[in-house]
Amino acid sequence: MTDRRLIEVAFPLKQASLDSVHEKNVRHGHISTLHIWPARRPLAACRAALIATLLPDPGDDDERRALVERIGGQVKSTVKTKKLASGEVEEEIREETVGGILHWGRESDPDMDWFREQIRAAYGGRAPRVLDPFAGGGAIPLEAMRLGCEATAVDINPVAWFILKCTLEYPQKLAGKTRPLPDFVLEDRGFMEDFFKKARALSGKDLDAALRDFFPDVEASMRLPGMGATTDVNADVAWHVRAWGNWVLERARADLERYYPTVDGKPTVAYLWARTVTCKNCRATVPLLKTTWLAKKANKRVVLELTTDDTDFTDKAEKSVQSVVFSVRELAKGEKVGRGVDEGTMSRAGATCPCCGAIMTMEDIRTEGQAGRLSAVMTAVVVNGDKGKEYRLPIAEERQVAEEAIMALEAVFAEIPFGIPDEPTPTGGGSGASRAFSVQGYGLMRWRDLFTPRQLLALGTFVRHTRAVRETMREAGYSAEWIEAVSAYLALAVDRTAERNSTICHYDVSRDSISGTFQRYALPITWDYAEAAPTMAAAGSMEGQIDWITRYIEHALAGVRYAPPPRVERQSSVSLKSGTVDVVVTDPPYYDAIPYSDAMDFFYVWLHRSLHGLSQEIDAVFAEPLAPKWDYATNDGELIDDASRFDGDKDRSKAAYEDGMARVFQNCYRALTPEGRLVIVFAHKHPDAWETLVSAIIRAGFIVTGSWPIETEMGNRTRALTSAALASSVWLVCKKRPPTARPGWDNRVLDEMRTLITQRLRDFWDAGIRGPDFVWAATGPAMEAYSQYPAVKKADEPGQVMTVSEFLGHVRRMVVDFVVGRVLSGDGAEAITGLDDLTTYYLLHRHDFGLDEAPAGAAILYAISCNLSDRDLSDRYRLLEQKGSTLQLLPWHRRASVGYDPVLDAAESQGAETPRLPGLEAPEAVLLELPLIDQAHRLMHLWRAGDVTKVDAYLDARGLRRNALFHQLLQALIELASAGSEERALLESISNYLGVKGTKTAAQAHLYITGSER
Ligand SMILES: C[S@@+](CC[C@H](N)C(=O)[O-])C[C@H]1O[C@@H](n2cnc3c(N)ncnc32)[C@H](O)[C@@H]1O
Repeated sequence: MTDRRLIEVAFPLKQASLDSVHEKNVRHGHISTLHIWPARRPLAACRAALIATLLPDPGDDDERRALVERIGGQVKSTVKTKKLASGEVEEEIREETVGGILHWGRESDPDMDWFREQIRAAYGGRAPRVLDPFAGGGAIPLEAMRLGCEATAVDINPVAWFILKCTLEYPQKLAGKTRPLPDFVLEDRGFMEDFFKKARALSGKDLDAALRDFFPDVEASMRLPGMGATTDVNADVAWHVRAWGNWVLERARADLERYYPTVDGKPTVAYLWARTVTCKNCRATVPLLKTTWLAKKANKRVVLELTTDDTDFTDKAEKSVQSVVFSVRELAKGEKVGRGVDEGTMSRAGATCPCCGAIMTMEDIRTEGQAGRLSAVMTAVVVNGDKGKEYRLPIAEERQVAEEAIMALEAVFAEIPFGIPDEPTPTGGGSGASRAFSVQGYGLMRWRDLFTPRQLLALGTFVRHTRAVRETMREAGYSAEWIEAVSAYLALAVDRTAERNSTICHYDVSRDSISGTFQRYALPITWDYAEAAPTMAAAGSMEGQIDWITRYIEHALAGVRYAPPPRVERQSSVSLKSGTVDVVVTDPPYYDAIPYSDAMDFFYVWLHRSLHGLSQEIDAVFAEPLAPKWDYATNDGELIDDASRFDGDKDRSKAAYEDGMARVFQNCYRALTPEGRLVIVFAHKHPDAWETLVSAIIRAGFIVTGSWPIETEMGNRTRALTSAALASSVWLVCKKRPPTARPGWDNRVLDEMRTLITQRLRDFWDAGIRGPDFVWAATGPAMEAYSQYPAVKKADEPGQVMTVSEFLGHVRRMVVDFVVGRVLSGDGAEAITGLDDLTTYYLLHRHDFGLDEAPAGAAILYAISCNLSDRDLSDRYRLLEQKGSTLQLLPWHRRASVGYDPVLDAAESQGAETPRLPGLEAPEAVLLELPLIDQAHRLMHLWRAGDVTKVDAYLDARGLRRNALFHQLLQALIELASAGSEERALLESISNYLGVKGTKTAAQAHLYITGSER
């Protein structure tokens, strides 16, 4: 094998991005539908990265191009036109891949066999060993298995470990195996018909014949034993999960029927609730509603109306109290409603009492919550009517049975190991990962508190019957292996049901359905929550969850049958001792981005109960009441930056994360063969994170040999630019640095970096990568130069080395100069040099975000790249204004110190012929070098004041007439200003006055251009 891998030379970047983004819309059969796990990577990106890492570079341009195309296919554009209401026609360019094996659905393409053969051949005819030390939901090992590799998937979290077993291990073990369906489904006509149609592909007469075999026109009770069983009913594990899922459901339905009454023959979709607090002023019960919309669709708008009851009643304290009365009203077509409907009773300030108008502040509500005095009221019921969803008030029986559920809890949970989930919820608070949890702030201290009594009763009932499956299967003679797999998947179905049945779920009025608990990986309190009827065939039902799971199993059975058995290990990779591996591909946790263990304890508590006793291995992994967090004795544990684990000490928390990460990379180094490769997915937006992780990689002994920014989020650039999340993840490829490598010199490294980076920047720009993503996309190639050396010495400072931080500073500046070059001079331009920092920042920010609010993360990254800080920009230069978590450019006329010129405005020059502006404020720190953007803004003021003499004096004083950079800046500012604005008119006038010949075309943000090759 040549020592270079395809990924180090070429990669189907655009195709992998397109297919990764497309995959977000895939539903049935996708890994993400088996069970929630945060931050799953798209399969297309994982597959592409694995193939290109496992296969050698062919070493020939034509062969390389052919191989890249065989992986990714070609990109095809289609133009779709849409007629707008205004009569204008809007064109949308859609791009998709044709061919290749990355697109969802092509993973079972016959060409995959060719790739499997090539990969084996590249490893001397054996299956290469692939390790993922942070395997999470298993996207990387699943793809490794699909490619015929021997996969090792390691994760510290028991929930992840269990998901990995269900994702990788059971399907691999059971692929191609079948067992007879249980007797009880042989009598279920609906089930068998489905089975014959889907599993046996029977239709027409064949289907009738098969069904007749099981359902002759003889009553079941009249049939003789064995009669009607000539058709083969051996089925794979997915069908067994369906069958046993039905078994669980049937029993649960019988137990729970009375708690979910069907009124007027219309099945319930959701019970809507509002938490309540007692008004501190009038003692009324205040419903906490974020909105009073019940349905908000173009063709149907329904609201919940609140009035107060005239007939006061007297409470225990002998005080006269009013009460809130609800009614439901469908709005007439075109009827207008006030803002109050959107806002409900809640605002940022707190809750407004509908009876007296007093405000219960958030602090009041927290205090009441912590004292256990928050309650809840059922406000409305959504049902399936003849013509779609209907909304009505609950009837008395519905309110009553919801309350009565509490009385049945004890008996149900008495039969379940560990009883009702009393384990503590995450403490929350703080500024790190734990900020995701606010439930304890409102008194929801135990996991049980996140469910209504009826939800607990339903989940407990599902757990109880799921646990009973194993004994019944044993009695029916199924093997231990089969029982474990079926029970495991049913436990996942309970988890999925819990996710759709907690009091964190809300009713999504625009989609007319119940949301899941994890809209993001956090547990905020939901004021008005929705409760499903999980025994019915509606959203959030157990039946629906079983369906999702079985569809994944079917897909996986076909996908992993080529692979040797995977190793799924629950352990910390900080102390990982794995055997030798050929490739490590991994997607590590990023600082405080996602509190995996705390959030996923939501599932742990249910799995603990559903699985207990299923196998010794499972019991050992789920031995503790909750998933592991941090072990202080061994200084090892889940790698997330969460200061609440270190008594609020942020430095200790950060150090623990960074040290742990470095140890994992060292373990990867030890595990890899000499020519092995480490591929790491980076999706963090903060410069510090990059610095630390990159330092850890270098210190562990790796060289960066390639990097690709794969777009993994939706292709809408506007969203991607304005959200704080990165739309791309950068896949860094590393190999072991030769032990003979000697230290390098900074000047040489910077030269090498410039050579390496320039073409890549053009490629990435042409591929439509913008904003913070662009900075990070460029960092990978730059690292290739720096990481070759164990240390980089400074040529001009004996004994000093260039730190990673300094190096990254150079990289960012180079990237920024490149972007500004494009902004100033158009797409064909080269990087600009010599522009001052503030003007550079202004152009970057204005180009990406205009005068809109920009996410602070992106603005800070740009500031750092320009050697500035966000404080400099807001306080010293008065260029930015902070608005919550966003930063906004101040328009030129609102900059208080605009154009304060130390040369012209300082006290000593007063009285001279200076064009001082009225109301001009000296900035806190007077700058001798005046940024070009300030000069431009000052000129705009002078021009607007209409005194040409002052304009001329300023132009001459600052030498702007012959300053080419200033002319380019003016031209760029004109293009950035909106058409018809005063800003644009002023800039054009000044530009014309100076005789600037502006010919630049506006920099366009193409979505994608070509797959990139070096
Ligand atoms: C970004 S996620 C991986 C997601 C995965 N690539 C996927 O597609 O689902 C990072 C994972 O690292 C795991 N993790 C955190 N600390 C760990 C440690 N010390 N050892 C092993 N795994 C750890 C977390 O539990 C989490 O599953």
